[in-house]
Amino acid sequence: MFGKEKNPCFLLALFVILLSCFVAEIHGKKQSKALGHLYREKRKGSNSSVDSGVFRGTHNVNASRIHSQKGLKEKDRIVKLPGQPEVEFSQYGGYVTVDESAGRAMFYYFVEAQHSNDSLPLLLWLNGGPGCSSLGYGAMEELGPFRVNSDGKTLYRNRFSWNKAANVLFLESPAGVGFSYSNRTSDYQKSGDRQTAEDNFVFLVNWLERFPEYKDREFYIAGESYGGHYVPQLAHTILNHNKKANKTIINLKGIIIGNAVINDQTDTEGMFDYFHSHALISDEVAFTIKKYCDFSPNATSLSRFCSAALDEAEETFQDLDIYNIYAPLCTQENLTSRPQKPLAIFDPCSDNYVSAYLNRPDVQEALHANVTGLKFDWQPCSDVLGNWQDSPSTVIPLLKEFMAAGLRVWVYSGDIDGRVPVTSTRSSINVMKLPVKTAWHPWFLKGEVGGYTQVYGGDLTFATVRGAGHEVPSYQPRRALSVIKHFLAGTPLPGASQNT
Ligand SMILES: *[C@@H]1O[C@H](CO)[C@@H](O)[C@H](O)[C@H]1NC(C)=O
Ligand SMILES: *[C@@H]1O[C@H](CO)[C@@H](O)[C@H](O)[C@H]1NC(C)=O
Ligand SMILES: *[C@@H]1O[C@H](CO)[C@@H](O)[C@H](O)[C@H]1NC(C)=O
Ligand SMILES: *[C@@H]1O[C@H](CO)[C@@H](O)[C@H](O)[C@H]1NC(C)=O
Ligand SMILES: *[C@@H]1O[C@H](CO)[C@@H](O)[C@H](O)[C@H]1NC(C)=O
Ligand SMILES: *[C@@H]1O[C@H](CO)[C@@H](O)[C@H](O)[C@H]1NC(C)=O
Ligand SMILES: *[C@@H]1O[C@H](CO)[C@@H](O)[C@H](O)[C@H]1NC(C)=O
Ligand SMILES: *[C@@H]1O[C@H](CO)[C@@H](O)[C@H](O)[C@H]1NC(C)=O
Repeated sequence: MFGKEKNPCFLLALFVILLSCFVAEIHGKKQSKALGHLYREKRKGSNSSVDSGVFRGTHNVNASRIHSQKGLKEKDRIVKLPGQPEVEFSQYGGYVTVDESAGRAMFYYFVEAQHSNDSLPLLLWLNGGPGCSSLGYGAMEELGPFRVNSDGKTLYRNRFSWNKAANVLFLESPAGVGFSYSNRTSDYQKSGDRQTAEDNFVFLVNWLERFPEYKDREFYIAGESYGGHYVPQLAHTILNHNKKANKTIINLKGIIIGNAVINDQTDTEGMFDYFHSHALISDEVAFTIKKYCDFSPNATSLSRFCSAALDEAEETFQDLDIYNIYAPLCTQENLTSRPQKPLAIFDPCSDNYVSAYLNRPDVQEALHANVTGLKFDWQPCSDVLGNWQDSPSTVIPLLKEFMAAGLRVWVYSGDIDGRVPVTSTRSSINVMKLPVKTAWHPWFLKGEVGGYTQVYGGDLTFATVRGAGHEVPSYQPRRALSVIKHFLAGTPLPGASQNT
């Protein structure tokens, strides 16, 4: 089929199309739709519109971006969300302006801890994409206190909400995602890693003015998927500013990233290793990909053998949910008139329920969201954003910087995700060539293996979560809560002898 075609441009174009099929189209509403789009663009090599050079964060966000937040906290208090069961903790939602002249404002949702809100740490959660909502995914489908019922209008409690362990802040970022917006709509064409890190930093400094009781609190950042870029880049920006100011502006203590985009080359190679080892592709296709595909950052074209193998790989698994290769699919797209029991521990139709809920005017009013009458709907992953401007091919230098600075660094991985799978994460960590401090061993929860863990000198903790897909807290809520509790406490995950 490709035998006579020698033009590398043609082959590259073909590869781009193939990749778009299996990455983006399988599950249109999932977080990695945007990730597939980005990868596609980055593969255009020197013709790519994405700058994949080293991350250079901003150093100079100064007092001119910080504004008085007096009285705004109480205005942001959420009395009650529509269809919400009674709860004993406080919730807030609202906007923080990050650029006055552009009219750019970020939407946040904040849930205080269920107990000891005055002493437990502050945890910021960031979903990835780029372009996916931390409110829709993180808060409403993963680690927040509520999940949306199949009627799209009532909520039920998540027994394993992370606000059992921390005060949790969900931020929809960048502007153009979820309820976050810019009145200067050309901003949507200029999104990228650098702008996201800067806006997230300005958001945070102003948010802490609004909630000053959290200023000195231990602060941690967590995120998933493309959050593997956002989390380290925000942490780097914080460290820069603390250093420049010679004081602790933000009391950052550590970061934790799950099924995270870390290092393009190993992430991609590891994905095909996973497909092979999990019987999604044939030996021949796997060997051809290994032999003929060059996924290094500077590769400019792919051989025809590589393209053909990728074509076959695409055919093999286009029908399954790559974010959890064993999950049932959503077959009943409609809402139900009454709440129905979820089909599985995580209902595969959750995106539909959450979209319906967050697009309700009464819900938006209760959240203090969409106060300016935005021209676009609330979407799980934004299609408002234009081309992504910059996305470094690796964040490993940032992880090394944090280890040197004494921050706590944890990397976890749901082991049945095929998109940013455990094989990718392990080989990305291996690139760092860290010494092993605590050898690989199972960790336990309720008498069962919760996953496996290894601690590296430096300090970096790697942990798998057994039976979890890409959105770990959705599929293994109890195990995910255990991971975050141990991370926040700075204690190792329990081996067999400490089995609790
Ligand atoms: C603040 O930073 C901006 C650049 O981001 C600069 O133009 C401005 O002069 C700075 N203002 C002060 C007071 O340092
Ligand atoms: C949170 O902590 C503050 C300070 O200790 C306390 O006054 C408040 O009642 C707590 N909030 C809730 C909802 O318990
Ligand atoms: C955006 O424009 C609307 C309408 O003019 C205004 O009410 C709102 O405050 C602006 N947003 C920001 C962040 O300035
Ligand atoms: C930074 O602050 C410390 C005190 O907190 C002080 O001893 C030191 O001299 C300061 N360094 C600079 C460069 O200003
Ligand atoms: C890719 O190219 C850039 C400059 O074009 C170079 O700095 C970088 O080291 C190269 N990366 C690899 C992995 O060869
Ligand atoms: C970039 O585009 C030009 C013009 O279309 C083409 O000649 C060149 O081969 C492309 N380079 C890559 C790496 O795709
Ligand atoms: C889903 O809802 C649409 C529009 O209300 C309706 O036409 C369709 O028949 C429904 N499908 C099912 C399977 O109930
Ligand atoms: C905001 O509200 C308008 C109606 O005023 C609605 O059409 C739009 O879908 C909403 N957008 C978002 C992001 O909630």
